[in-house]
Amino acid sequence: MGNRHFGKIADVWKHAALMEAVSRAAPGRYAEIHAGSAAYPLVRDEERAFGILRFLEVARHHLALAQSRYLAAVTPHVRAGQAGGGEAAPAYPGSALLAMTALGDECSYLFCDLDPLSAADLRHRAAGLGLRRWQVAEADGMLTVRAWLDGAGSAGSGAAAGTAIVHIDPFDPYARAPGGLSALEFAGHLATSGTGLVYWYGCDEPGERAWAFRELCDLTRAPLWCGDIMVTDAGGGGCPGDLGRATTPGTGFGVVLANLPPSVLSGCAAVGSALASAYTGVTLPGGTRGGLVFTGYRRA
Ligand SMILES: C[S@@+](CC[C@H](N)C(=O)[O-])C[C@H]1O[C@@H](n2cnc3c(N)ncnc32)[C@H](O)[C@@H]1O
Repeated sequence: MGNRHFGKIADVWKHAALMEAVSRAAPGRYAEIHAGSAAYPLVRDEERAFGILRFLEVARHHLALAQSRYLAAVTPHVRAGQAGGGEAAPAYPGSALLAMTALGDECSYLFCDLDPLSAADLRHRAAGLGLRRWQVAEADGMLTVRAWLDGAGSAGSGAAAGTAIVHIDPFDPYARAPGGLSALEFAGHLATSGTGLVYWYGCDEPGERAWAFRELCDLTRAPLWCGDIMVTDAGGGGCPGDLGRATTPGTGFGVVLANLPPSVLSGCAAVGSALASAYTGVTLPGGTRGGLVFTGYRRA
């Protein structure tokens, strides 16, 4: 399994922002450094009840969520087996499948993951969608995507021209292959080079919120936008958090965007604010009250 945190609230925000980015920017090329599996059998536990399952319950009451690209993309998978479902059994789609669903055959794709099972699942799903231009690399994502973007790798040959978006979603932002860049350093490189960037980060201390935005501000001079969400207790705080249990007050997560159109930034801001509204006064696992705080940051 590529991503054991699938469908939790941190995944909901990551994928909601990613869907705004790819749908509004409509890139000709799309790459994932850490693709994970294509989809995961849906689990109904406290974390998913707070994450994807609550999102689906409340989305229709909040205009920006009801109109979000994410709701449209995720619903057929989670509702599978019910009327209108697109699969045999309920599943949570990973970022690669969401992107392929949103962008279809107008885009060429490169998905990287070191995990053989994730790579096999991605190949199976991409082939099943009947897409013409895709490649799955069971290799280090930073090195492989860099070669693809530079046009030096075979995956880049003949790829559709036009804008590119790279999604970086690391478990460890500082890990690097020998001779390569870390995920965070590569994000800075992409931002500087003008490539569309969606970078996900998490934290488990309120004082660390938006940490990746601050670090990227030091790594590049490119304009950046950050949408940060913090899980809070009833008093608006909480400490320490726990990314393993993303419902723990004090847990934070966000996306940093670069080289994407203004409509992406405004779309993400609207969805992030609506998500926080939709979780106002929510009951956390354990029965206490809490919520989500959304904060947008920008470096011009
Ligand atoms: C957080 S999961 C990805 C989730 C996925 N992006 C999504 O949103 O559905 C991180 C993935 O990165 C993979 N991974 C870790 N280091 C990697 C590397 N250097 N290159 C490629 N994949 C890597 C892991 O096997 C894991 O599947």
